[in-house]
Amino acid sequence: MKLAFFGDVVGKPGRQAVVDHLPEVRSALALDFVVVNAENAAGGFGLTETIANEVFHAGADCLTLGDHAWDQREALTYIARESRLLRPINYPAAAEAPGQGANLFVLPDGRRVGVIQAQGIVFMKQLLDNPFSAVDAALENMPLGMVADAVIVDMHCEATSEKMAMGHFCDGRASMVVGSHTHVPTADHMILAGGTGYQSDAGMCGDYDSVIGMQKDNSIRRFHTQLPGKRYEPALGEGTLSGLFVETDDATGLAVRCEPIRVGGRLSEVMPGV
Ligand SMILES: [Fe+2]
Ligand SMILES: [Fe+2]
Repeated sequence: MKLAFFGDVVGKPGRQAVVDHLPEVRSALALDFVVVNAENAAGGFGLTETIANEVFHAGADCLTLGDHAWDQREALTYIARESRLLRPINYPAAAEAPGQGANLFVLPDGRRVGVIQAQGIVFMKQLLDNPFSAVDAALENMPLGMVADAVIVDMHCEATSEKMAMGHFCDGRASMVVGSHTHVPTADHMILAGGTGYQSDAGMCGDYDSVIGMQKDNSIRRFHTQLPGKRYEPALGEGTLSGLFVETDDATGLAVRCEPIRVGGRLSEVMPGV
């Protein structure tokens, strides 16, 4: 199966990069399933239904969120009726968190793709439950090669150590484990020892002439002066579509290829060969 995950869509330039490039990338790579992290798609803060539909229409099969999940309050009700939208699985009061943190998608040809999102607890502003325990339980519910033909884990967190530990924790049980939240693509894409495709961060879909997608002058000033600045606004230059491509062996659900995708904007272009 051919899978792709694209990192945090930041504001209009991020959405434009998805709209401009995802349809072509999807068809060029013959992608079977696409996950996009959309926690910053609405002006950098959260997600609305209208914007979610724009990203679905461009070729996403599933959207994930993160620490910005509820920045737009309508997401609290929207997620309850949209099973293609996932939030972190490890909220402490699970019964009170709207929506779900994992889902099993059935493709038109009958193959099944499981998606799980977890949020880390190192350096994060919300303290959720242990993501490892939550992902462990979710993986038990969709064993690779039995219940699911492919499993994608979005590990949304700050620390590369926590992301890498999650990669190894899922190794052999997931087709791909990919980090989101830090908005910068890492160069450690690889197939782990047990066959899981891995990258510490998929990078954002957004304008890289920025500080993680936001206007750089305001961000520099806040760091420099340690004084309150203006509200963060997305940088408005041309965005890059940034993510990870994983091809699996249908017999095992494990990765046989794991390569980055970067199209448009300021980052140098990388496309898996076909
Ligand atoms: Fe983000
Ligand atoms: Fe985040």
